Parts: sequence; C-alpha cells; structure tokens
Amino acid sequence: MRLFIAINFNNAMRARLLALRNELRGKSVRGNFSEPENLHVTLAFLGECDAKQTAAAKSALGAVGFEPFEIAVDCVGRFKRDGGDIWWAGLRDSEPLLTLRRDLTGRLVNEGFVLDRRDFSPHITLGREVATDAEPWKIEPFGEMISASELMKSERIGGKLKYTPIARSKRYE
Ligand code: 2AM
Repeated sequence: MRLFIAINFNNAMRARLLALRNELRGKSVRGNFSEPENLHVTLAFLGECDAKQTAAAKSALGAVGFEPFEIAVDCVGRFKRDGGDIWWAGLRDSEPLLTLRRDLTGRLVNEGFVLDRRDFSPHITLGREVATDAEPWKIEPFGEMISASELMKSERIGGKLKYTPIARSKRYE
C-alpha cells in the first residue's frame, strides 16, 4: 500500500479551499486540479509499505499526541516544475504544526522509516501541471482547529487519485 500521513479538513474549510482552487483554475489555461475530497496537508510521505511497515506507521501515529491548534491558510503559491507548476494553498507559520511534524517524523524514524530530508513546507496542493500567467497571491486568512492527523492510503482507481484514511492519531478535545 502507498501511504502518507496527513491533516484533513472539515467541510467548511474544504469549501473555502475549493473556492481557492476554482479561482486558480479560472486563471489557468490548463492543469490537473485536486478533487475537493483530496485536499490535505501532507505531514510525512511513506511510499509503498508492506503489512509490517503499515503496522509500524499505525503504531507511530497512535503514539502522537498534541493539544488542538489552529492552522490558517494565508496565500496561494507554487513550486516551479518543468512541464507545469504545482500550485498550492500555503499555511501561516505555526509552531504547533512544526512540533507535531517533528514528533511524528521522530517516531517514524524510530520505527525504521527513511523519510524525505527536504525542508518541510506545509501546503495544500490545489493543482499539478498547471499552466497560468498568475503570480502567487496573499489572501485573507481562514482556518480551522486541528485535533488529529490520519494515516492515508493512496490509490489510483480508473486514473483518479483516491485517498482513504486507515488510522487516526488520538484526538484531544
Ligand atoms: P503534496 O503534499 O505536495 O500534494 C500523496 O501522494 C501525498 O503525499 C501528496 O499530497 C503528495 O504531495 C505527498 N508527497 C510528498 N512526497 C511525495 C513523493 N516523494 N511522492 C509522492 N507524493 C509525495
């Protein structure tokens, strides 16, 4: 199974993100735009995992605990790529988010995972292979309280990406 750990959103947040995605799409000549149910923040990408690794990932996630904290989207930006950029909604700097990620990745490494060493740049992908004349822009921030993260299975079904939660961290109210 291809796995990653993500923060998912409530319906209100998803609707706001969908509006941003649509605004971006309106400014673009082409692109592969994210389905609303697929909008998330990736905390750790694990890649292809066997049953033992899946159990280890569940164990790491199950040990993570954190006080709920607010995340806020405050800009739309891009990663430049040949053949079309990746465009995303960017998150305001958040110490609790960095702490959560550090805790999680530390536990995953202790479980034997080898993780991407690149700097964490928290984002919500709105579209890939996007061709547009738009420049990144700032938005009026909007957000939600986060109280859990989830282990996600990624599949391609009939050419469409489908993400399914298979485990969840403890929820702190
Ligand atoms: P993204 O967070 O930039 O959208 C599932 O593939 C999720 O894991 C996607 O959200 C994807 O990118 C993220 N991801 C991070 N590193 C990845 C990698 N090396 N290969 C595929 N997906 C990766």
